[in-house]
Amino acid sequence: MSLGATPLQLLVLPGDGVGPEVTEAALLVLGAALAGSGIELEVERRPIGGVALDAGPDPLPAATREAALSAGAILLGAVGGPRWDGLPVRPEAGLLALRRALGAFANLRPVRVLPGLERQSPLRPERVAGTDILFVRELTGGAYFGRPQGQAGRAPNRRAVDTTEYGELEVRRVCEVAFRMARERRRRVTSVDKANVLATSRLWRAVATEVGREFPDVELEHCLVDSFALRLLQQPRSFDVVVTENLFGDILTDEAAALPGTLGVLPSASGGGELPWLYEPVHGSAPELAGRGVANPIGAIAATAMLLRLSAGRADLAAAVDAAVAEVVRGGVLTPDLGGDASTEAVAQQVVGWLRRSA
Ligand code: NAD
Ligand code: IPM
Ligand code: MN
Repeated sequence: MSLGATPLQLLVLPGDGVGPEVTEAALLVLGAALAGSGIELEVERRPIGGVALDAGPDPLPAATREAALSAGAILLGAVGGPRWDGLPVRPEAGLLALRRALGAFANLRPVRVLPGLERQSPLRPERVAGTDILFVRELTGGAYFGRPQGQAGRAPNRRAVDTTEYGELEVRRVCEVAFRMARERRRRVTSVDKANVLATSRLWRAVATEVGREFPDVELEHCLVDSFALRLLQQPRSFDVVVTENLFGDILTDEAAALPGTLGVLPSASGGGELPWLYEPVHGSAPELAGRGVANPIGAIAATAMLLRLSAGRADLAAAVDAAVAEVVRGGVLTPDLGGDASTEAVAQQVVGWLRRSA
């Protein structure tokens, strides 16, 4: 996974809505983080999602797919928006196809409440302060990819079906990632399922338990998804690593954004095998903010920190970016989603300023 040698060949997929704004902001920071590091940054940009559908039939054009498979790492903004909602092929299908092509079964979504953000949360500051959770979301299985899927019939007899299916090996490999990550953290894994109702969840729980036996130094607990959704808001500090299936992970990580107070600050990294990893903010295209220069770039910036750590093997540079972001937040330079009036670019420039001062 580590690139080791220079240069860093980065494929940027800006996508739709605020995607181009936050990826450009993140690139400013990445450039500053790499300055003087000996790593040269080579950036290529390609279309995905709605902008790709404006130009052709495929939300993941073949040229974008090929570029992704041969990149050092990929930074994606967001896809989707009301403009493409009525089309037979949706922009989101391009992102799903990309994750699948990359074999990106493990989606790492860290949720931290940085000092200074506690007061932005709709929850009580003393309850959310110090939250540090790593969600490990399964990303290439479950209802997102199960077949059959679709709608048939005519009104008033239309019917639709989605299929949730998991194989043992799919569960095992993502649980192994969670346990390995827990060893680098506080050695606690919470596996989230709906084993009281769903067959896939009963398999999930059995396999998670088996994997847990191979990591006796890590504590495993199981939690039903409905009570997890509540506990996440009541006792967020009680979690370390949380592993769960694709759909639950999608929903719960948006819920977790209530802890820092906005979706705009959450990053993610997706990968699995030897293919390039994909880095993105957790948020979507936020169409209502697009073009206004006010989207929070911290999710995308923090995603580039994950890239520096996981794909470039430069934990030092990743830590410098994270520290610079923390300083900017502490200093109160915040976009409107966090109650401030700073622009996307102003936040990025502040982070760049901190990086230069600390270099
Ligand atoms: P969204 O994530 O775009 O927005 C949810 C809320 O978070 C909104 O209030 C929005 O203003 C806010 N928000 C999101 N990003 C922000 C940022 N950077 N700074 C400040 N506030 C931010 O979700 P949605 O509105 O439900 O979806 C819009 C479109 O995005 C849909 O087409 C959806 O499919 C797509 N989507 C794409 C991705 C992705 O590309 N990874 C993820 C989620 C949603
Ligand atoms: C996410 C998004 C995607 C998902 C959509 C856009 C397909 O919500 O990355 O969280 O559901 O995985
Ligand atoms: Mn989502």
